[in-house]
Amino acid sequence: MARITQLAALCAAIITQGTDAAVTFAVPSKAGDGGHSYAPLDPAPLGISFEFFAFPSYLTNVTATNQCLSNWKDLTGVWPPIRIGGTTQDRASFDASTSAYVVYSVANPADAPMTLTFGPKFMTLAGTYPGSVVVGLNRGKNNIDNTIAAAKVAVSEVKNLYPDYPKDGQPIARGTWNPSVDASSQVDWNIRVGSAVGKNNIIQAGNWNQAPPEWGAAQLIARENATSKPYVRHYAHHNYPGGDVQKLQTHSQTASNVRSMFAADVAAVKQQTGKEYILGETNSVSGGGAANVSPTFGAALWTMDYALRAATTNISRVYFHHGTVGNCQYCFWGRYSMGAPYYGATAAVALTAGARTIAALDDERGNEGVYVTFDGEGRPARVLLYNSEYYAGSGRRGVQVFTLTGLGGGESVRAKRLTAPSSLARADRGDDISFGGQRWTDGTCVVAGEEVFETVGVENGQAAFEVKAAEALLVYL
Ligand SMILES: *[C@@H]1O[C@H](CO)[C@@H](O)[C@H](O)[C@H]1NC(C)=O
Ligand SMILES: *[C@@H]1O[C@H](CO)[C@@H](O)[C@H](O)[C@H]1NC(C)=O
Ligand SMILES: *[C@@H]1O[C@H](CO)[C@@H](O)[C@H](O)[C@H]1NC(C)=O
Repeated sequence: MARITQLAALCAAIITQGTDAAVTFAVPSKAGDGGHSYAPLDPAPLGISFEFFAFPSYLTNVTATNQCLSNWKDLTGVWPPIRIGGTTQDRASFDASTSAYVVYSVANPADAPMTLTFGPKFMTLAGTYPGSVVVGLNRGKNNIDNTIAAAKVAVSEVKNLYPDYPKDGQPIARGTWNPSVDASSQVDWNIRVGSAVGKNNIIQAGNWNQAPPEWGAAQLIARENATSKPYVRHYAHHNYPGGDVQKLQTHSQTASNVRSMFAADVAAVKQQTGKEYILGETNSVSGGGAANVSPTFGAALWTMDYALRAATTNISRVYFHHGTVGNCQYCFWGRYSMGAPYYGATAAVALTAGARTIAALDDERGNEGVYVTFDGEGRPARVLLYNSEYYAGSGRRGVQVFTLTGLGGGESVRAKRLTAPSSLARADRGDDISFGGQRWTDGTCVVAGEEVFETVGVENGQAAFEVKAAEALLVYL
């Protein structure tokens, strides 16, 4: 008897597993409806950050760079924004006399230099990029004359400037270094650099790695005064959530992290300054990424979900960091191979392309992420369905049925699938990752394969979509 009960319980468990509950979401017929929170979309909300010393290499000596960026430009009509900076920005000195982009030496090509110089040509190269460019300048060395000399070249060649956060050990951070001392230092730096170049609305301020509210834009704003404020263009923060693949890709985790870490700081910036809030440098795991986490398809799914959650939280742009060429686990591409995260990022770009408004329909608590974008007339344009359940590659793979209502009078909708054999699949190891049936070629970032759209029937404005564990589906309305 006991055995039969056990067996019955086991069967029930198996049956429950085999029939994942359906979830239903109503797509608002226009932006603003349905009690969701809506955010305006930047024309290019996903950007790329290049580590300062590696930037010339990415632009001149990594073939995939231009193509990977222009693939997104083809989708959105806008070149993705780039930012140049990072740890080596605060190790760099300007050398007006060098004709090289950067000068440094390292014992091993996988290393980042401990010190380097850069010449005017560095800024000229940055100025050749057709999209928006943020260039980070040195604050940590506390050599303001050198920084101002670089800033003067930068403003004549490229658009934005901004200081970074000095780490312990930087000359400026000797002695007491806390959010308040740092904020005063930034205010002073912004006035000196801003007035030297004679331009308002030019500095991307903030840029801290440590989380708000201790180190946040709100703390910086509290220290600002009427002299420093006009130089600030936007406020930015850095973020590397970390964790294993499963944790990283889990939607409820990403959604609550973005909200709990940034929503209040974003709101403070909006209310007190009306300026934009940016994630100026971010990626999955700090220090170039984690070898078994950052190059995976699970990290690609995180990239997609995180960028979209940031956008729905009124974070205008997110710059995904790219470090040392050849030693960068989270990079979207390298000299020889593609990285899985490019696939997730491209799905996010495809959802937002040309749209004006974004909203999340999910309640942030489950494995299901649902994002809708709206066009200039406020009509829903596309919906992204994300099943963040982890799948390690063996055993049964769960399927979530997403039912969408409010789809209007058409008979069918088309959809593109972001998929891979498992959460652990890697583009750099040749695993079969695809978006709408397509792949990006190692070394060149040229798209390969036929673009595949699935067609799903709509009845009475309602349709059901199957999304496997660790998959996403982009529905075109
Ligand atoms: C985003 O900012 C807009 C104003 O620009 C505001 O109306 C909206 O409520 C904000 N959304 C969120 C999710 O905070
Ligand atoms: C380009 O990359 C190759 C391969 O790492 C390297 O040998 C070469 O020095 C690089 N050239 C420049 C100009 O950086
Ligand atoms: C703002 O603070 C700076 C010191 O960092 C000071 O030089 C400047 O005069 C102040 N401006 C105003 C309007 O108080």
